Amino acid sequence: MAVKRRFQSVKGMRDLVDEAPAFAEVEETARRVFSLYGYHEVRTPVVEDTELFVRGVGEASEIVGKQMYSFDDKKGRSLSLRPEGTAPVARAYLEHDMASWPQPVKVFYMGPYFRYERPQAGRYRQFNQIGAELIGDPGPYSDVELLVMLLRFLEEVGFQDLEVGLNSVGDPECRRRYSRRLREYLEPHRDDLGADSLRRLETNPLRILDTKAPKERELLEGAPRLREVLGSAAQSHFEVVCEQLARFDVDFEIDNRLVRGLDYYTRTVFEITSVSLGAQDAILGGGRYDGLIADLGGPSVPGIGFAIGEDRLVSLFRHLYPGRRVSGASPQEPVCVVPVGASYRRHGLELSQALRAAGITAICEFDALRPLKVGLKQANRRGCRWVVLIGEDEVAAGTVVLRDFENGTQETIQRDEFVDVVATRISA
Ligand code: HAM
Repeated sequence: MAVKRRFQSVKGMRDLVDEAPAFAEVEETARRVFSLYGYHEVRTPVVEDTELFVRGVGEASEIVGKQMYSFDDKKGRSLSLRPEGTAPVARAYLEHDMASWPQPVKVFYMGPYFRYERPQAGRYRQFNQIGAELIGDPGPYSDVELLVMLLRFLEEVGFQDLEVGLNSVGDPECRRRYSRRLREYLEPHRDDLGADSLRRLETNPLRILDTKAPKERELLEGAPRLREVLGSAAQSHFEVVCEQLARFDVDFEIDNRLVRGLDYYTRTVFEITSVSLGAQDAILGGGRYDGLIADLGGPSVPGIGFAIGEDRLVSLFRHLYPGRRVSGASPQEPVCVVPVGASYRRHGLELSQALRAAGITAICEFDALRPLKVGLKQANRRGCRWVVLIGEDEVAAGTVVLRDFENGTQETIQRDEFVDVVATRISA
């Protein structure tokens, strides 16, 4: 007989097995914290018109140029798996006429995103983001509020001492001016630039600033600074953001080289990176995008937002705080109900239902054909401290037996009181 092929998950895409509870906790924390700031959840489709990202994120960006999962549907329309969430939210803002809602509109979202990147630790082809967007206020106080919210979320997840890298990429005029200056500065040093940077010198010189090549980094030490060419409006915007963040005790550092990899950014940009994840890995990033809605054919409406890489966030948390649960969550350990004998399964189900009705997590071992010893072993393997036993004697006497694995003791209790007794024992 032919051996049937077994399947594995697609390269760069993974099952969340051990991590899923931590993901759920992080998501719950995001929902709770973001709601406190007046944000509400939206869900956009996983597939969008390819052109949305070409125009929104930028043709010259790495994401659009190299990393999109694009395909033609049966009618020949070019569609793409979403590589990020801001352009889709901007599309939804226009599609649902959110400009007619009270401004600014505040939304958050979470879910899977797709980029065809070279997989490595913390870099996947399907990854998860939790993002938030504030659309309809030019800032700078909205910038501060958004960052304060983000840090509150990180704190509630359990992080301490994460530092935000902050910069301003200015308005399009400032950037054009700066690109010219940077090009002038780099031209005489073409020989020291790698192929990527040479290409960027033509398409988008700004992106050369976040090069990882040591020689290029050295060369950039002497380059003009973006903030030196900011117009006065962008400059004072940035000053207020910095001043107010300091007032709210936000730990930030101005990072002159921070430009971000998506083309829609204007003025405030930020990232949190962690060296423990590897030299170049940001756990989150964001910024202002005052021209995006107009670029997508809408009115001129400013926006700001961020996206957290959930996979990286969870793995960084585990790395920094081994053994600790995100958000300090301590899920209730289940009480195990073991019917002693096949004919007592019905009672087992009734008892577990009664526990659950009282909010107590319960698992019933229906496989009662096994000897009791096996049932108890199974309960132990599940990590249950408390086991409720019910068999012939208990049914006849209207009782149940409650066994405490930790102390090796057991007691017989009245069936009609057992839920209260279990509740008292497990919370003691
Ligand atoms: P981004 O910097 O491209 O920004 O992605 C945000 C975060 O997603 C990154 O900091 C990283 O943690 C995570 N991430 C990106 N690619 C991968 C990957 N291949 N594997 C694992 N994690 C990854 C955006 O997407 C913008 N939409 C953020 C934003 C919202 N700006 C304004 N509003």
